[in-house]
Amino acid sequence: MQDEFDTVILGAGAAGMMCAAHAGGRVLVIDHARAPGEKIRISGGGRCNFTNTGCGPENFLSANPHFAKSALSRYGPWDFLDLVQRHKIAWHEKTLGQLFCDGSARQIVEMLLAEMRGAGAELWLRAEPGAITHGPDGFAIDVDREGQRRRVSCRNLVLATGGKSIPKMGASGLSYRIAEQFGLSLRSTRPGLVPLTFGLADLDWITPMAGVAAPARVTAGQGPGTASFEEALLFTHRGLSGPAILQASSYWNETATVTIDLDPAGAVLPMLRGARAKTGRKTVPTLLSGPLPARLAAHLAAAAGVEGRVGDLPDAALTRLEDILRRRKLIPSGTEGYRTAEVTLGGIDTDGLDSRSLRARAMPGLYAIGEAVDVTGWLGGYNFQWAWASGYAAGTAI
Ligand code: FDA
Repeated sequence: MQDEFDTVILGAGAAGMMCAAHAGGRVLVIDHARAPGEKIRISGGGRCNFTNTGCGPENFLSANPHFAKSALSRYGPWDFLDLVQRHKIAWHEKTLGQLFCDGSARQIVEMLLAEMRGAGAELWLRAEPGAITHGPDGFAIDVDREGQRRRVSCRNLVLATGGKSIPKMGASGLSYRIAEQFGLSLRSTRPGLVPLTFGLADLDWITPMAGVAAPARVTAGQGPGTASFEEALLFTHRGLSGPAILQASSYWNETATVTIDLDPAGAVLPMLRGARAKTGRKTVPTLLSGPLPARLAAHLAAAAGVEGRVGDLPDAALTRLEDILRRRKLIPSGTEGYRTAEVTLGGIDTDGLDSRSLRARAMPGLYAIGEAVDVTGWLGGYNFQWAWASGYAAGTAI
């Protein structure tokens, strides 16, 4: 059985659905999952952090930092917010420009499905693409649709199956394989926005605080690739997590250190010095438990050997505490990997793609969008914004 379409989009995720809503002509979206937009559904703790009002090219990692500019400039956070408002989805700004649904993330999936229906796009779920060939008339794709073999032909083929993160949710790396088949090159991939793990020596310091969250500035990376993030840090039984760590993980490379400042405002040491100059009777853990969680305060004071009265502390002891509090260097043993990573760094090399249309330069009719491409955003709604913007760019170019 042969089905003819103008455009076939592989992947009914954020980017694929956005592209389908704008492509025009006969459009088919193919996905092997039972439901479309599963990552949207679970994102942002079920409320989907769907964009970030401060989104700019500087919030993305890519071998070509200029590549994302064109698509992001033609479909920005306000364009997506406009769509959300047209669909009467209530939203709020949480922090740092991050916009979330008031209700369920499912509303975003429903909105995109409605846009796709409005554009006349067809959706095949539980459908697995097989062999793909290219001839003078375009692409031919073998598809196993719920046990039935179908052959689909199209002029335009859009790769939108995302990266390798969360294989349990169907991440497969399919777009990378098809990109390579048609001559596009790949940048090596690694997990991003992922908790960091540590060896036994560091875990001795970390695990007594498992469950404690505190504001921190975390710095990772080397040379011009260094980045610092000031957000919450979470101690866990396996290592470190929380937004500050997830952000830094995308800049961390094996063997490098991460530096942790648990007093990003720089207010703790002046407070201790002030207390020492007054009565000096309170203990250091008691004073530290004002600005810091009590368990963290007690642990840091013990690690620096400053558990007694602040009035008895020599300057050297305060400096020791400052080093532990503000300049703790740790070497992660690794990350929790694709099992928990929110995104995949690397992917289809942008060198082979036109930045305006996301079209492959050397292969007529082939497009790549979303997380499959070597453009990875920070935590905070940037990755969805890239999915919307790149999906829109390809859809409107088709
Ligand atoms: P996406 O992964 O969304 O879609 C790919 C689609 O392709 C899937 O439907 C999949 O089933 C399908 N597919 C894969 N292999 C296939 C195959 N072989 N055959 C057929 N179909 C196949 N970002 C953000 O901006 N704000 C947030 O709040 C969050 N929160 C968040 C939470 C969690 C837990 C995760 C894992 C990730 C996030 N993200 C996020 C990141 C965001 O989800 C991600 O960047 C986008 O979903 C990427 O969109 P894509 O459409 O490129 O891929």
